[in-house]
Amino acid sequence: MTDIIENKSIIERAQATLRHNDRGGYTVPTDRLYPFQWNWDSAFVAMGWATFDVPRAWDEIRLLLRGQWPDGLIPQIVFHVPSDDYFPGPDVWQTNHTPPTSGIPQPPVLATAVRAVLAASPGGAAEIAEIYPRLVANHRWWHTARDPEGTGLVATLHPWESGMDNSPAWDTAMARVPITTTTTIRRRDTSHIDPAMRPKADDYQRFIHLVDLFRGTAWNPAAMYAASPFRMADIGTNAILLRAEQDLLALSTSHGTRAEAAEIAERIQCMKTAQAELWDPKRGIYVSRDLIANANVDVATSAGFLPLYAGIDTHAADLAATLDRWHSRVPWLVPSTDPTDRRFEPMRYWRGPVWAVVNWMIAEGFSKMGQPGKATTIIEATRTLIDQTGLSEYFDPTTGAGLGGETFSWTAAIRLLIEPQLLSPGIR
Ligand code: DGY
Repeated sequence: MTDIIENKSIIERAQATLRHNDRGGYTVPTDRLYPFQWNWDSAFVAMGWATFDVPRAWDEIRLLLRGQWPDGLIPQIVFHVPSDDYFPGPDVWQTNHTPPTSGIPQPPVLATAVRAVLAASPGGAAEIAEIYPRLVANHRWWHTARDPEGTGLVATLHPWESGMDNSPAWDTAMARVPITTTTTIRRRDTSHIDPAMRPKADDYQRFIHLVDLFRGTAWNPAAMYAASPFRMADIGTNAILLRAEQDLLALSTSHGTRAEAAEIAERIQCMKTAQAELWDPKRGIYVSRDLIANANVDVATSAGFLPLYAGIDTHAADLAATLDRWHSRVPWLVPSTDPTDRRFEPMRYWRGPVWAVVNWMIAEGFSKMGQPGKATTIIEATRTLIDQTGLSEYFDPTTGAGLGGETFSWTAAIRLLIEPQLLSPGIR
């Protein structure tokens, strides 16, 4: 890969990275470390493809939807072809689906991606006719399976669902999860990546304990919800879903029914009201809520800026001040954990590093919610990090060093998305 991309511009390298990670219609996040199709990775990657190959962007979405379950769930991983490079594989999940999939969701960026790809695709009506009903089913799944009491906040039952696996926001709740497993843990990630950049052994014991528990329910949503000792209203997932609902509402006006539009609009109202309750005045940011302990979590993470991305402008100026405070502690924005928090670890996965996809969403939020200067600061930081150190999985906010996997698809996609001249008005 290094040979192929030498001497090319960063844009050519980003495009070459997507092509290199293309497995015939879907894109792996990176070679070996993640050898399958991941849900939210593919949503960002589809937007990246749409900047230079729109038909390929639609393929990405269609192949992800091949993994959708009859009840509407779009799983976190679709195992299109076998690979020994990753644990836990389909033999551990045992979800009994074709193609094999994991049994949990990931942050629902997809409706947002579909709307963006459609905007870049003048002839996209045929694709949308096929995809729109699948999105409707998926959003209904979120509310039925994960908010059975209609509170306006959907629950996350496994840290992997949040995409922010080992965030300190989960520490207290994960302490309730036993470290015993019936599955033998054979981690592969630490043979690809320095263990200092990955979740710890205890984290994996608990991750797999939850998988064992859910497999025992035969992946029944109500049984999983009732059984899980980890049940969080993740501010990241809730904000991303709220934003996706607004994109689905826009799609429904041309591709759906009035009844669907009314249903979506009602959910949006309910979610907005519920998310307002997650504001933490002491930390100046939104936080997640532990639905079992009935308490908001006591740590600020980058996910707490995402209500801006969901169109909630109430605390835009407070969030701008919080960003400034964080910036006074670290040169590179946006660290995934408050850098003044004792749990901040600048190199360890979701406990501190900067992630380009999160930066893109936060910048989009600041830009739309009346803080364009903050959006520019974040986009400039993201561009410099990538251009100076490469298309890494994540970056150290204290040094700017690239960390985790290399030639990473979603980092490539974001680099394409922040290049203004590549964007159609729909993605901008
Ligand atoms: C992993 O295995 O590291 C993933 O984050 C799960 O989605």
